[in-house]
Amino acid sequence: MKKEKLILAYSGGLDTSCCLNWLKDKGFEVICFSANLGSEFLPKEIKTKAKEGGAFNVYVKDLREEFSKNYILPALKAGALYQNKYLLSTALGRPLIAKYLVEIARSENAKFVAHGCSAKGNDQIRLELAVKSLAPDLEIIAPLRSWELKSREEEIDYARKNKISVESTKNKIYSIDKNIWGVSIEAGLLEDLDNSVPEEAYILTKSAQAALDDSEEVEIEFSEGCPVKINKKAMEFTDIIESLNKIGGRHAIGRTDLIEDRVVGIKSREIYEAPAAWILHKALAEIEELVFTKDMLEFKEIIAKRYADLVYHGFWFYELKDSLDAFLKESSTKLTGKVLFKLYKGNVVTLKRSSKYSLYKKSLATYGKKDLFSREWAEGFINILANPFRRGK
Ligand code: ARG
Repeated sequence: MKKEKLILAYSGGLDTSCCLNWLKDKGFEVICFSANLGSEFLPKEIKTKAKEGGAFNVYVKDLREEFSKNYILPALKAGALYQNKYLLSTALGRPLIAKYLVEIARSENAKFVAHGCSAKGNDQIRLELAVKSLAPDLEIIAPLRSWELKSREEEIDYARKNKISVESTKNKIYSIDKNIWGVSIEAGLLEDLDNSVPEEAYILTKSAQAALDDSEEVEIEFSEGCPVKINKKAMEFTDIIESLNKIGGRHAIGRTDLIEDRVVGIKSREIYEAPAAWILHKALAEIEELVFTKDMLEFKEIIAKRYADLVYHGFWFYELKDSLDAFLKESSTKLTGKVLFKLYKGNVVTLKRSSKYSLYKKSLATYGKKDLFSREWAEGFINILANPFRRGK
């Protein structure tokens, strides 16, 4: 009988390596797909590992640019931040991976896709909702939900038995997901809330103690909500992110430790590192403060919250998200300007901001001689405000 083709989202880590073997044993012709969103990615090694693991074919794609332009940028414009601490690096990558799973399934004429996400994580939800919305006819297989292996230890035994190489890397001590927008670190000793995070768990950032003793200034320029220059040098958005990760990382910017509410209703502890994301998030907020009216700023907060929830919960290819993007496209036309920050031991201090759309008028704000704010304006204005609670005649 002819084998059924299946496309597996594959990273070469323990879970997906075991998935590959398990799916092959179930009789599938497994085609692996690996997306480079900015991890320490070695396409050759991934290809070799997948082939050795029995993959029929392997697709490896560098998607960093598409990731930054079409996934990170809209979320940055939205100001999307989950539970005040998570700038959604992992969550933003999933719909993009799903998009390619579907594309490859179509070009290979495959009816099945699979992933190595666990039954209590968010990523299964994000990947599957995206696949279901792009290609409802595809069948999704999640080995970690159906196989007999009950723990990471059992998986390691399974891997050994099946001659899958299990490197002793940080990925084994913690569960790590890294892309250009940030690193998510969980599990291992972090599951015990009495444990503080060991320094060696961090990948991108120095601690405040180990950070440079000298502060550093960085100027970020935006055009219509998109970062376009750092320190007056024009750069592609992807390069800006990568460069700010380095700059911010050496000044201890962008660490958070979150007791996070997962979609499945449990709390988990997640450590995040996202230097570039935090710097850009703060920089854009500075421009907004300068150019948006008060009601626009307040409305934007609602959008930011809703956008973060949609991304976190996996509703990317979704009507409401598209409509919010349309709002952001329009509102961000004003987000052109510059911000100058000083970075120092975990702090991002604003030194200057400017925009041609600035609504700040010194002539109205000043207490000095050149004040154009007419004193007569105030009295009548206050009388009108007082109308609702006027008593008597
Ligand atoms: N909790 C985060 C999220 O749901 C990150 C999960 C990523 N996985 C990991 N291995 N750390 O977006």
